[in-house]
Amino acid sequence: MSGPAPSVIIAVDGPLASGKGTIARALSARFNIPYLDTGALYRAVAVAMIDQGALPENVEAAERAARALDVALIDEVRVRTAGAGVAASVVSAHTPVRAALLDVQRRFAAQPGGAILDGRDIGTVICPDADAKLFVTASEETRARRRQAELARRGEDMSFEQVLDQLRQRDARDAGRASAPMVKAEDAVELDTTEMSVSEAVCAAFTLVKARLDPARPCTPC
Ligand code: DC
Repeated sequence: MSGPAPSVIIAVDGPLASGKGTIARALSARFNIPYLDTGALYRAVAVAMIDQGALPENVEAAERAARALDVALIDEVRVRTAGAGVAASVVSAHTPVRAALLDVQRRFAAQPGGAILDGRDIGTVICPDADAKLFVTASEETRARRRQAELARRGEDMSFEQVLDQLRQRDARDAGRASAPMVKAEDAVELDTTEMSVSEAVCAAFTLVKARLDPARPCTPC
C-alpha cells in the first residue's frame, strides 16, 4: 500500500530574470508542492518602507518593517515594479532584515507537504539540507531582455540600456553583500537558460530535480 509522498524541499536560486521564478512555479505545479517567492518578501519590506517615507538604506527602519511585515503584501502588484526590486536589493543587504525574515521562510519550508522556495540564499542559508538544489543562470543580455519584456507587460517601459544597468548593479549588490550573498551552493546543479525557451528550461529543471528525488514520487510528466 503506498502512503503519501514524503515531503521534499526544493531550493531554486539565481540572479534576476534568470528564469528561476518561472521554473520554481512550474515545478510547484508538477510536483504539487507549495511555492514561496522569497524575493517578494524583501520587495514587500521595501514597499512598506516606501509607504512610510523611509529610505531603504535606513537599517533600523528596514528591520522594523521586516519584523512587522504583512505577508499578504507579497501578492500586491506594486511589489513587482522595477523600483521595488532596486529597493529590495538594498534592503536585503541589511543583516537584521535577513534575520527577521529567516523564520517565515524556514516555517514555510518545514510544512508537511514539502516546499519549493526561490531566491538568492535558499540552498546556502535558508534550506542547506534541501533535497534538490538548482542554481539558474543566463547571460546578462538575455536576462535584461527578459526583464525589459516583463516590465513592459506590466506597463513599465524602460530602455534596454537602463534595464541592463540596473541588472548589473543589482547582481553586484546581491552577490557582493556580506550577509548571505547570492552564490551557488556547492551541491546545487547549475542550469544555464540562455539558449532555452521557457518550456525547454522547465523541462530541463524538471529532469534535474527528478533525478535527485525518489523516482516513484508522483508528478505530471514533462
Ligand atoms: O528575486 P527578486 O528580484 O524578486 O528579489 C528582489 C531582491 O531581494 C534581490 O535583488 C535580492 C533580494 N533577495 C535576497 O536577498 N534573498 C532572497 N532569498 C531573495 C531575494
